[in-house]
Amino acid sequence: MRQGWIQGGQGWVANQRIFDAAFAPLTAELVQRAGWRQGERVLDVGCGSGTLLEEGLRAGAEMVGVDISPVMVAAAQERVPAARVIEADAETADLLADAPGRPFDAVVSRFGVMFFGDPAAAFANLRRATRPDASMTFVCWRSREENPVFTQGAELLAAALPEPPPRPAPGAPGPTAFADAERLRSLLEEAGWREIGIDPFDFHCDYGVDGSDGVEERLAVILSSSGRTAWEQLQSLVGAERRAELLEAVRADLRAHRVDGVVRVPAAVWLVSARH
Ligand SMILES: C[S@@+](CC[C@H](N)C(=O)[O-])C[C@H]1O[C@@H](n2cnc3c(N)ncnc32)[C@H](O)[C@@H]1O
Repeated sequence: MRQGWIQGGQGWVANQRIFDAAFAPLTAELVQRAGWRQGERVLDVGCGSGTLLEEGLRAGAEMVGVDISPVMVAAAQERVPAARVIEADAETADLLADAPGRPFDAVVSRFGVMFFGDPAAAFANLRRATRPDASMTFVCWRSREENPVFTQGAELLAAALPEPPPRPAPGAPGPTAFADAERLRSLLEEAGWREIGIDPFDFHCDYGVDGSDGVEERLAVILSSSGRTAWEQLQSLVGAERRAELLEAVRADLRAHRVDGVVRVPAAVWLVSARH
């Protein structure tokens, strides 16, 4: 996973503006639910390039980000110098030793907690870094079937490979690891969290940025996330002409699916809350 996020981190950082635009409705909901108070000490798990660190600082919280990918850590540090950002595996690190200070009042994450090898151990590790009664608020994806962001365009690229890439097993570490809400609830309970809430939240990822129709933005996101592995393999498997044809096919598909002139993709996530 660490290796994957070192490679994947570059594309994520390069396209952070597009991700932030697409996730804007979700981020607003997450921030509102987290309800940070002035002076709270907040841990952002899998902080990526620092969107929630920025949001928390704006609310007057003391923000600490943890991320396993050095590329992400460097980007977050540059973007949000007032936050403390540590490079560590949130599943196993002694977080209060790595970021010395009082136990955290809150844990937050936007899509940063689905990659743990042992999720119950990881959520227990996060709980150990918090004070009693601390809150945890995070967002994770529901199933692939409910989320065309994982298939749109990426399937066209994968179909050009000699063999289709393997589908992740249900519950395996990865973006949709917690699609099954009951499994997620059990993992959180096993880790000692209580008052667990798992609410569905549906929104649209809108890829139009600064008045664009979002085709190039969505294509950039596909090539750096859901379609990244297939696209990397295609570099050595097919020539430049065929690759250009494939990109045109993805663009045409995106254009055909514009809504009101903009690429807009439905998204289905769980908004999760829990208490130490
Ligand atoms: C989908 S990205 C989300 C980034 C950021 N939260 C955002 O919404 O822009 C997932 C992030 O989790 C990080 N990550 C994955 N496994 C991790 C782990 N075990 N410990 C810390 N960070 C991890 C990745 O490096 C990546 O930055």
